[in-house]
Amino acid sequence: MPLIAPSLLAADFLRLDKAVEVVNNNADLFHLDIMDGTLVPNISFGFSVVEAVAPVAKKPMDVHLMIVHPEKYIEKFVNLGASMISFHLRACDRDGLNPFEILDQIQSYGVKAGIAINPDVPVERLYPFIQKADYFVLMSVYAGFGGQKFIPETLDKIKALKAEAERQGLPCCIEVDGGVSPSNSGMLTEAGVDILVAGSSVFKSDNPAEVVSLLKG
Ligand code: DX5
Ligand code: ZN
Repeated sequence: MPLIAPSLLAADFLRLDKAVEVVNNNADLFHLDIMDGTLVPNISFGFSVVEAVAPVAKKPMDVHLMIVHPEKYIEKFVNLGASMISFHLRACDRDGLNPFEILDQIQSYGVKAGIAINPDVPVERLYPFIQKADYFVLMSVYAGFGGQKFIPETLDKIKALKAEAERQGLPCCIEVDGGVSPSNSGMLTEAGVDILVAGSSVFKSDNPAEVVSLLKG
C-alpha cells in the first residue's frame, strides 16, 4: 500500500487548519510545494507556511522544491522541520550544479533526499542516482500547477526505474506527483509506486478523508 501525501497547494488557505487535520488524521505525509516563478512558471508559498504547519504536523513534512539554486535553501527547510526534501534535476542542469552534492547536503542533516523530473525527462537520467537518492519524484504533470491532467506514460517510468533498481540490487522509493486521484491510484500502485502525492483530488473534494482512503486502495 502506498503512502499518501496530500499536497497543501490545493487546500483552502483561509482554513489551512482543516487541511492539516485531514493529513494528521488520515494520510501519511505533508507534501509542501515550493515554487519560485523561475524554475517553474508559478509562485506558491514559502517559509512562513511551512513554519506555520510544522508545529501542528503530526506526520512528516515532504518538501518539494521547484526552485533554482535549491542548495541555498535546504538548511532553512531542515531547520523548519522537513523530513524529506526533493529538488528538480532541471535546477541542476540549468545552473551546472552537481546533483550528488545536493543529495549529500540534504542527507548530511539526516533528512531524506529526492530528485524530481518532469514528464519530458527520460527516466534513464535517474539511473545514476539510484545508489544515492532516498527517493525519486516522477512528475505526472508538468511541475508548476495543481489541478492538471495525469500523464499515463508515467506508469512506464515507474516500472523502468523499479526494474533498473532491481538490476542494480538496490531499493528504490518512487513518489508520483500530479493529477493523482482514485481513478488512477490503482494502476500506480500496481506499477509499484511507493508514495502518492495528491492535491486537488483530496482538497477539492467534499470528503477528503474518503478520497485519502480510496487512494490507499
Ligand atoms: C505540481 C505540484 C503538485 C501539485 C499536485 O507542480 O508539484 O504537488 O500540488 O496537485 P494535483 O494533485 O492537483 O495535480
Ligand atoms: Zn509537488
